[in-house]
Amino acid sequence: MQSARQHRIEPPRGRKTPRRLSARRKTLLEQGVSQFGINAKEIRTATPASCLPQAWFGESFTGKVFLEVGFGGGEHLVAIAQDKPHDGFIGAEVHQGGLANCCALLAENQVENVRLFAEDVRTLLTACTDNALDGAFVLFPDPWPKRRHAKRRIISQDFLDELARVLRKGAVLQAASDDPVCQVSLLQELLAHKAFAWNATQAVHPARCWTKPPPNWHSTRYEAKALKAGRKPIYLTLFRV
Ligand SMILES: C[S@@+](CC[C@H](N)C(=O)[O-])C[C@H]1O[C@@H](n2cnc3c(N)ncnc32)[C@H](O)[C@@H]1O
Repeated sequence: MQSARQHRIEPPRGRKTPRRLSARRKTLLEQGVSQFGINAKEIRTATPASCLPQAWFGESFTGKVFLEVGFGGGEHLVAIAQDKPHDGFIGAEVHQGGLANCCALLAENQVENVRLFAEDVRTLLTACTDNALDGAFVLFPDPWPKRRHAKRRIISQDFLDELARVLRKGAVLQAASDDPVCQVSLLQELLAHKAFAWNATQAVHPARCWTKPPPNWHSTRYEAKALKAGRKPIYLTLFRV
C-alpha cells in the first residue's frame, strides 16, 4: 500500500475565499474557529500518524469519531452531530464561506461535538494515528469532470490508502455524487481499493438501492441543488475491511 505521505499533495483547487464575507459572518467564523478549530499549524508540523483525534474532544470523551471531507456549508455535519451528541465529528473544509456558514449553524443550534479543520483534509489524515476514526463521509466532492482535471478529484487510490489507514476495521465510508463522470470515477476508485468493500445489500435490495440515500440521511446543499436541477445522485456505502 502506498502512503499519501510519499506523494506531493497537490493543493485543492477552486475558490477558497468567498467574494465577500460580511462583518457578521467574519465574526462568526473567527469565534467558531477559535472555539471549534483544530490547530492547523500543529497538524502541519506533527509527526505523521501521531495525532489521536479523540483528544480534540476533551479528556472525558469516550465516544466514536467521524470525519466529513469537504462539508460545504456544514448542513450535514451539524445534523449528524446533533443526532449523536456523545460522538465527535470532525469536518474539513477549505472554503471560508462554507466554514463561516458551519460556524453559524453550530452557534444557532448550540452544537459542541464538532471540530473544524480549515485546511486540506489530506494534511489532517496524514497526522492522524492508525485506526483512529469510526467512519467518514465524502459527499458530493468537487467532480472535476474534464479529463485533464481528473487528478484533482479527491477520491484517488493514494487518498483511499491514507483513509484506510486511519479508519478502524468495520468503519463505514459514505460517498455520494451527482455528476456522471465523477460517479464512474468514484465507483472505479472505490471498487478497486482492497481495503473497502461495497455494501452488497445496497446494490441489490430495492429499499436500499444505491440510487436512494441510506436510512437516517440528512441532505446536503449540493445534493439539494442537484435534485432541483434533475440530476440523479448515487449513494455508496462501503466498509473498511
Ligand atoms: C461540491 S462541494 C460539496 C460540499 C458538501 N459536501 C455538499 O454536499 O453540500 C465540495 C467541497 O469540498 C471542499 N474541498 C475540496 N477539496 C478539499 C480538500 N482537499 N480538503 C477539504 N475540503 C475540500 C470544497 O471547498 C467544497 O466546499
